[in-house]
Amino acid sequence: MNCSQAKKFLDSCGQSHVLAFWKELGPAERKALLAQISRLDARDIATCRKALAAGAASVPDTSKGVAPRVAVLKGAKLKEAVAAGEKEIAAGRVAALLVAGGQGSRLGYNGPKGCYSIGPVTGAPLFFFHARKILARSIRYGARIPFYVMTSEANRAATEECFRDNGYFGLDPEDVFFFTQGMWPGMDRNGSLLLESKGKIFMSPDGHGGLLAALKRSGALADMKKRGIKSVFFFQVDNPLVEVADPAFIGYHVMNRSEYSLKLCAKRDPYEKVGMPMRFGEKYRMVEYTEMTKDQCERKSANGELYFLYGSPAIHVFDRAFLEREAAREMPVHLAFKKIAHIDAKGRAVKPSEPNGYKFEKFIFDILPNAKRVAFLAFDQKDEFSPVKNAEGNDSPATCRADMQARWRRILAGGGVTVEESVALEIDPAMILDSRDVVERGLLV
Ligand code: UD1
Repeated sequence: MNCSQAKKFLDSCGQSHVLAFWKELGPAERKALLAQISRLDARDIATCRKALAAGAASVPDTSKGVAPRVAVLKGAKLKEAVAAGEKEIAAGRVAALLVAGGQGSRLGYNGPKGCYSIGPVTGAPLFFFHARKILARSIRYGARIPFYVMTSEANRAATEECFRDNGYFGLDPEDVFFFTQGMWPGMDRNGSLLLESKGKIFMSPDGHGGLLAALKRSGALADMKKRGIKSVFFFQVDNPLVEVADPAFIGYHVMNRSEYSLKLCAKRDPYEKVGMPMRFGEKYRMVEYTEMTKDQCERKSANGELYFLYGSPAIHVFDRAFLEREAAREMPVHLAFKKIAHIDAKGRAVKPSEPNGYKFEKFIFDILPNAKRVAFLAFDQKDEFSPVKNAEGNDSPATCRADMQARWRRILAGGGVTVEESVALEIDPAMILDSRDVVERGLLV
């Protein structure tokens, strides 16, 4: 793209100001700006402007929301689901899909969140625990479980480096597929693109819902199809307790012929910051914690339990064909009003102390209402969900490490091995995935 082509394109999108400082730019800056403009999509700009004009994505009237029916599997039902899931994995029909594009800003960490050192003894990164669980299951069931890792533009290189430096955590590199989510430009209140500097447009990742477009664009969806994948286990990078490719969950999904299945856990308190799936008429949709009123959070059922008891830790299984269908559709756009440092029309740096502009994001759970069949499965939060979100307090590295160690103690105890509370503990999931390994690998002496 040359300068006049860029000008024509920007004029057509009502964004001519982007070239306002062209004359002041050196050759390298000009080249970089033209490259950035050539990657802009007129449809994305129109979508963002439309979202801005419409205001916040329509918030459902949550007073009409009905709590979903959530299955609690025990005994024979659990065994049946596990057997179905094991069959699916052994047949090579299961993939793991990780969204790892977010920036650890709340955590105060600069690199990709997956590289964050969480192992309580070795300091192993979050990626280690995810990858080693995949390895463990693929060895146990004698099948490949391809691992699709979505990064952002900013953390792609560092993510790949982390995998390379760690020998792909024992996985076959052929089975690890990195792909990059899209970037969307930020805008001021009037829908004008913001300039980060005279030669650079301000852009930010398009949210984890950018996953669908990125899966398609990168060829990951086609790769899944070629490999014969049917069930796609989706999870977030910040939760090292997640049971990646859990046979019970996959089995339950398959037995229900579900297109979108969600693992849910009872909230720790009425205001816990997790999304809540609700039914509106025939359709389900995710209601974010920010969209719930205090009364709804506190509403009780006749038995005294919270009515909206179950929250979503963002652990899903998708039918691959459903993802393919959804990747061909437009997704809703969410607005986030943020402080965005930029330069003004005169080229002066603006460092706002109040929100001044919009970032745009898509959320993967917005495809929930489109699923023809949906299934909800309960699990115990203490065993599978302890995310690293904040530097301190709730959902911090300290709470997560304590929860990981408590979980490992329970795994060992399930195999008859007791470890004192005072002993610092860390277990490689590829060595011991669950209590069965404790017994079978002869740890029980
Ligand atoms: C999210 C969910 C919430 C859920 C909670 C569980 C949203 C809006 N809310 O909240 O319903 O209960 O997790 O922990 O998602 N990511 C990308 N690219 C992006 C943005 C995020 O890959 O552009 C990834 C992150 O790396 C992370 C995940 O998506 O793995 C979640 O993002 P985060 O912003 O941490 O979500 P929460 O607000 O904590």
